[in-house]
Amino acid sequence: MNITCLTLFPEMFPGFLGYSLAGKAMKENLFSLRAVNIRDYATDAYKTVDDVPFGGSAGMLMKADVLDAAIKANYTSGPLIYMSPRGQTLTQKRVVELAHEENVTIICGRFEGIDERILQSWPIEEISIGDFVLSGGEPAALTMLDAVIRYIPHVLGNADSLAEESFANGLLEYPQYTRPQVWNGLSVPDVLVSGHHKNIENWRKEQSIQLTKERRPDLWKAYEASQQKKG
Ligand SMILES: C[S@@+](CC[C@H](N)C(=O)[O-])C[C@H]1O[C@@H](n2cnc3c(N)ncnc32)[C@H](O)[C@@H]1O
Repeated sequence: MNITCLTLFPEMFPGFLGYSLAGKAMKENLFSLRAVNIRDYATDAYKTVDDVPFGGSAGMLMKADVLDAAIKANYTSGPLIYMSPRGQTLTQKRVVELAHEENVTIICGRFEGIDERILQSWPIEEISIGDFVLSGGEPAALTMLDAVIRYIPHVLGNADSLAEESFANGLLEYPQYTRPQVWNGLSVPDVLVSGHHKNIENWRKEQSIQLTKERRPDLWKAYEASQQKKG
């Protein structure tokens, strides 16, 4: 996968993606990450990238002409994403789809965002990472990419772990334990040390269901509906 991030802060990349799982995957060329400085496409002597909003309001906006030039010079094919609090909230489903794209281009906003005409002129998908406002699109892009990179084939040594995770099957993940078997007066549930695979599987499913019902009634409702559909 070839990832291009259009940003006013290219030095923020690869950031934490240079470490651990993603860092190893990048070294192994399982994906490439290019950060392009939008400011390089400004044409005036001051390299201006922002201006005041028409109609007046607080803050500045990223200029359409400069951003358009940056997109034209760097976008080839595949999803063109603008990280935006107004976008569709990122889901695991979209994460998995993105992981199978050959090219992904991401626009990181700054200031009060970008001129609306960019969104009218390009086939842009707006993606939010949650109902809160960050000061820039870079941390949002890095967060989304962290989730996506895990799903690029061969990045995770044991792909089975993806199938068991929260959201993979529409439920939250069950509780997990490792050694020592008794810690701080707390024992690991007996079933997990029973060696009985079917009972372990059932226990995990029950725990997943219970947690999802308690913590995420919205997810539980969607899960129930999907099970009914399956018949
Ligand atoms: C200060 S924010 C602009 C917020 C905008 N004025 C609004 O109210 O919707 C600057 C940039 O941060 C990024 N950003 C902020 N919150 C985000 C979120 N929840 N998800 C994705 N990107 C976000 C966007 O790229 C945005 O252009």
